[in-house]
Amino acid sequence: MEFKPSSDSGVDSWKEVTLIYNSALKEMGTKLEILNDEFQHVHRYNPIEHIKSRLKSPESIVKKLKKHGYESTIENMVNYVNDIAGVRVICSFTSDIYRIAEMISNQSDIKILSVKDYIKHPKPSGYRSYHMLVSIPIFLSDRSADTKVEIQIRTVAMDFWASLEHKINYKFEGNAPVFIRNELIECSKIIYELDDRMLSLNDQVLTYSRTNQEYANAPRP
Ligand code: GTP
Ligand code: MG
Repeated sequence: MEFKPSSDSGVDSWKEVTLIYNSALKEMGTKLEILNDEFQHVHRYNPIEHIKSRLKSPESIVKKLKKHGYESTIENMVNYVNDIAGVRVICSFTSDIYRIAEMISNQSDIKILSVKDYIKHPKPSGYRSYHMLVSIPIFLSDRSADTKVEIQIRTVAMDFWASLEHKINYKFEGNAPVFIRNELIECSKIIYELDDRMLSLNDQVLTYSRTNQEYANAPRP
């Protein structure tokens, strides 16, 4: 894929851009793993089920630039394509999503550029997820480059819905029949209720085990 070099973004080749964004993915992945490990150490519990990361393909970058009327230059992709580096964090419970988002926000070298809460405000499609656009510094031999990473945080159930909806939309090239779209919206609501019930079930389990523990540890007459 041919990209014209940039004049002032400090990045002048596709290879260099790829290296920087790849490093940002590694950096973000490590940060999330550390947070998960620390959480396990303190609370005996892993908020993160798994992490997926991907670099946007040159074809998708060009398609996005074209869609928004920009020429395919390195400068335009760095400035206007926010999801070149994408990390997806899959959690068990909705409450974990906000916990992770807060832990990310508290890191002093991470700048939060924007947040979209599609859990509190789902998309018309029924899509739910918590999106953060952040920037992290990547330290090279002679400089540091602030690099954008799009983070999507969602539950296992939300991820299940999103991947099926994505496949269906792909099949219908974005024009799925109304009855299918309505069914997807319905499934999204069911998933929201399911997430809510699973969270409440988990709270009950925790309360039950705590009470039993206290009972077991109580001094006997
Ligand atoms: P894009 O141009 O798609 O990147 O949209 P945007 O810049 O307005 O960002 P937004 O936060 O809306 O969505 C970014 C990403 O979220 C997409 O690339 C998808 O991975 C995911 N996403 C957003 N909406 C949907 C949806 O309706 N269904 C599914 N399956 N995924 C979605
Ligand atoms: Mg995108």
